[in-house]
Amino acid sequence: MQRKFLIMNLAHRRFRSLKQVHCLLTMIVCLFLQISVSVLSEKMYATEPAATATAFVKTATEKQSEQTKNTMGVVAADCKKCHPAEVATWMKTVHFQSPDLRLYKFEGNTIKYATAMGLTSADLLADSICADCHATKAIRDGQVKVISGVSCEKCHGAAGGDEGWLNRHQSYHSSMPIPRADETPEHRAERIKACDNAGMIRSSNLYSLSKACFNCHLVGNEKLIAAGHKAASAFDFVSWSSGEVRHNFLVNKSDNADAPSLWMERTGGNSENRRRMKFVVGTLVQLEKALRLRAKASNPAVIPQLSGIIAAANGKLTQINAIAPTPEIQKVTMLITPMFGTLFAPLPTDKETYTKAADEVATQTKLFAETHDGSTLAGLDSMINQLPPHYSQQYQDKYLKN
Ligand code: HEC
Ligand code: HEC
Ligand code: HEC
Ligand code: HEC
Repeated sequence: MQRKFLIMNLAHRRFRSLKQVHCLLTMIVCLFLQISVSVLSEKMYATEPAATATAFVKTATEKQSEQTKNTMGVVAADCKKCHPAEVATWMKTVHFQSPDLRLYKFEGNTIKYATAMGLTSADLLADSICADCHATKAIRDGQVKVISGVSCEKCHGAAGGDEGWLNRHQSYHSSMPIPRADETPEHRAERIKACDNAGMIRSSNLYSLSKACFNCHLVGNEKLIAAGHKAASAFDFVSWSSGEVRHNFLVNKSDNADAPSLWMERTGGNSENRRRMKFVVGTLVQLEKALRLRAKASNPAVIPQLSGIIAAANGKLTQINAIAPTPEIQKVTMLITPMFGTLFAPLPTDKETYTKAADEVATQTKLFAETHDGSTLAGLDSMINQLPPHYSQQYQDKYLKN
C-alpha cells in the first residue's frame, strides 16, 4: 500500500513538470517493478505456494459464499510476515510433514487404513477423514482439498473470512493502518476480545488448546481402530507441547521461551506454574475427550482401549488430588471412580452416562483453569519432572543427532 502511494505521488509531481512521456515510462517501469517485488515477496513468504495463491484473507476473487465466519484455509504464509520464527519452527515438525508421510504417498499402513475406510489415494488429497488429523483442509476452486500439514489454524482456530479472527488480530486501529506500538489499551482489549469471540485459541486458553491436541491424538473412529490404526497417542500435554512443537517467540524472535512469552509478560506467570497447569488441565481434557468417545463406542475391541485411557487419567487425577487437593479435581474423581464397575462393559445407557460425565468434567476443568494459576501446585513437580520434552523420531534423526 505504502509503496503504491509513493509511486502515485511521484507520478503526480512529474505530470506537473510536463515531462509526460518520461513520466509515463517511469510509471510503467515502476509498476512493473512493483508487480515483480510483490510477486517475489509473495514467494519468499510462500511456504505452501499453491495454497498461498488463493489464501482467503488476501484474495478478493474468492467466491463470497466461501468467505464464511471461521473459514479454515488461511495458511502459514499469512502468519509468516509477522511470525517468521514460529513458522520456521513449525516447518520442522512432523505436523508440517504429515501429509507427505501419510497422504501423498499411498503406501504401507496408509493403504491398509484407507482401504478399510473405503478411501482411494485421490480421496486422501481431497476430503477424507484421514486429512482431518494428518492435514488441514480448505475449499479451493469450489472443492475441499488438502492445503497443508497440521497448520496454525488447527491449534489456534480457523482464522479466515471477513469475520474471521485474523482480520481483527492484525488491525490496531478501527480505521487507520497504525503500528502496534501506537494501539490504545482500550482498542487492544477490545481486539483481543473480538478475536476470542471469533474463535481464536490463544495461549491463555489452556482448556481449548489442549482440547485441540486431543481432537487428533485420541482417535474415536471404531472402523479405523479396528483396521489397526492407533486409538491414542501416548500423549501428555506437558511433554508433547514442549519439544518440537514449542514456538514461544513473541517477545524475542531468537529465543524459544519455555512458556508463551507474551503470556508471561502480560500475566507475570512463569514456566513452572504453566507446566503445573498444563499437567492438570491436559489430564482433565484427556479424560473428558475419552469419555466422549466412550459414549459413542460400541465395538468390544475398542471399548477396552478407551476405558483404559479413562481409568489411567482418573488414576493420575486421584494421585494429583492426594498431593495437591482442589475442589474441582475432587469432584471429578468422585464422579468417575464409582463408574469403574461398568466402565469396560458395553451397556445401552452408555451414551447418556458418558456424555453426562464428560459434560461435568468439562465444567470442572474450565473452573479449574479459571480458579488456579499453578502457584499452589508445587507438590506436583516431582511428577511433572518425569515428563521430558517429546520429539518425534523424524525430528530426532534430522535435528538432534550430531
Ligand atoms: C500483521 C501481523 C500479524 C499477523 C499477520 C499475524 N499475527 Fe499473530 N500476533 C501479532 C502480534 C503483534 C502479536 C502480539 C500480541 C498482539 O498484540 O496481538 C501476535 C500474537 C499472536 C498469538 C498470541 C496471542 C495471545 O494473546 O496469546 C497467537 C497465537 C498468534 N499471534 C497467532 C497467529 C497466527 C496463527 C497467525 C496466522 C493465521 C497470525 N498470528 C498472524 C501479529 C500478527
Ligand atoms: C482422529 C485423528 C486421526 C485420524 C482420523 C487418522 N489418523 Fe492416522 N494418526 C493420527 C495420529 C495422532 C497418529 C500418530 C500416533 C502416534 O504415534 O502418536 C497417526 C498415525 C498414523 C500413521 C503412522 C502409524 C502407523 O500406524 O503406521 C499412519 C500410516 C496413519 N496415521 C494413516 C492414517 C490414514 C490413512 C487415515 C485415514 C484412513 C488416518 N491415519 C486417520 C491421527 C489420526
Ligand atoms: C489436526 C490434528 C492434530 C492436532 C490438532 C495436533 N496434532 Fe500432534 N500430531 C498429529 C498427527 C497426525 C501426528 C503424527 C504425524 C505423523 O506421524 O504422520 C502428530 C504428531 C505429534 C507429535 C510427534 C509425536 C511423535 O512421537 O511422532 C507431537 C509432539 C505432537 N503431535 C504434539 C501435539 C500437541 C502438543 C498438540 C496440541 C497443542 C497437537 N499435537 C495437536 C495431529 C495433530
Ligand atoms: C500443534 C498445535 C499448534 C500448532 C500447529 C501451532 N501452534 Fe502456536 N501455540 C500452540 C501452543 C500449545 C501454544 C502455547 C505454548 C506453550 O504453552 O508453551 C502456542 C503459542 C503460540 C504463540 C504465542 C507465543 C508466545 O511467545 O507468547 C504464537 C504467536 C503462536 N503460537 C503462533 C503460531 C503460528 C504462527 C503457527 C503456525 C506456523 C502456530 N502457532 C502453530 C500450539 C500450536
